[in-house]
Amino acid sequence: MTLAQPADTAALEQDFQSLVESESRVEPRDWMPDAYRATLIRQIAQHAHSEIIGMQPEGVWISKAPTLRRKSVLLAKVQDEAGHGLYLYAAAETLGVDRAELTENLIEGRQKYSSIFNYPTLSFADVGVIGWLVDGAAICNQVPLCRASYGPYARAMIRICKEESFHQRQGYELLMTMMGGSRMQRDSVQDAVNRWWWPSLMMFGPPEGASPNTARSMAWRIKRHTNDELRQRFVDMTVPQADRLGVELPDPELRWNADRGAHDFGTPNWDELYEVVRGRGPCNAERIAHRRRAHREGDWVREAATAHAAKRASGTAKVVRGAP
Ligand SMILES: [Fe+2]
Ligand SMILES: [Fe+2]
Repeated sequence: MTLAQPADTAALEQDFQSLVESESRVEPRDWMPDAYRATLIRQIAQHAHSEIIGMQPEGVWISKAPTLRRKSVLLAKVQDEAGHGLYLYAAAETLGVDRAELTENLIEGRQKYSSIFNYPTLSFADVGVIGWLVDGAAICNQVPLCRASYGPYARAMIRICKEESFHQRQGYELLMTMMGGSRMQRDSVQDAVNRWWWPSLMMFGPPEGASPNTARSMAWRIKRHTNDELRQRFVDMTVPQADRLGVELPDPELRWNADRGAHDFGTPNWDELYEVVRGRGPCNAERIAHRRRAHREGDWVREAATAHAAKRASGTAKVVRGAP
């Protein structure tokens, strides 16, 4: 293969743009602009890291779940998140990066994950509220990604979104049960809602104004809606669910605006988001330390798997009867 000359590059870029505008999928072997590849690697890696780090806040409640049923539901949910991380790392690898390198980037702080996971889970009601609000916000963000222009990412998102619906549903069902319980249970649901509402709104990111990155991601059909459009959609979807549940959303400015046909709501504390993004949230250090430790403890598994793969490739591996 010879290097493309500038004139060729312009033609390739033209073809690429026509391809995405016709809503066709870009596949790993297709030519793509370097900046498109870099944007996708950054976005998919950040998404994968969020799934993996996102296992921690709820994972601590698995051994403290109040019943066997709650424990098995939570266990299934946290395992799903691990699976989401794996699909996404695999999607990123189709762009020419290595998963080990992405993990290094995460534990060395060179790549980010969603700030929402830097908040603590103080009671079992937090498990329900995370399902309802955090997975609910993730669904709003992720459903449009099922139509992202990059094929492996879009296909991973289809499966992920199906599982996210279950996550949201199990959270809401847990909260419904708790709201029908004792005064103490109802208070603990309200307390969890008070703590998670604003961070959930921040999950959509700050208002973008005329951000050139957003415009470019939209032209590439990676992003379909602005952060503010998605945040509005989430609020409009969530308010009737909160009413049904019997909890109050902690925003005195929240009200229906008949003219807009949408809810007005207050402004999140963006300074808080920037602090958490800079690593100064309540649990940033703990999350990374845990991930680093888990990665180190998995060293022997990776070494054994690599040695086994090499043996298989050389034909010297002992085949275990009945093994897959
Ligand atoms: Fe997930
Ligand atoms: Fe989820």
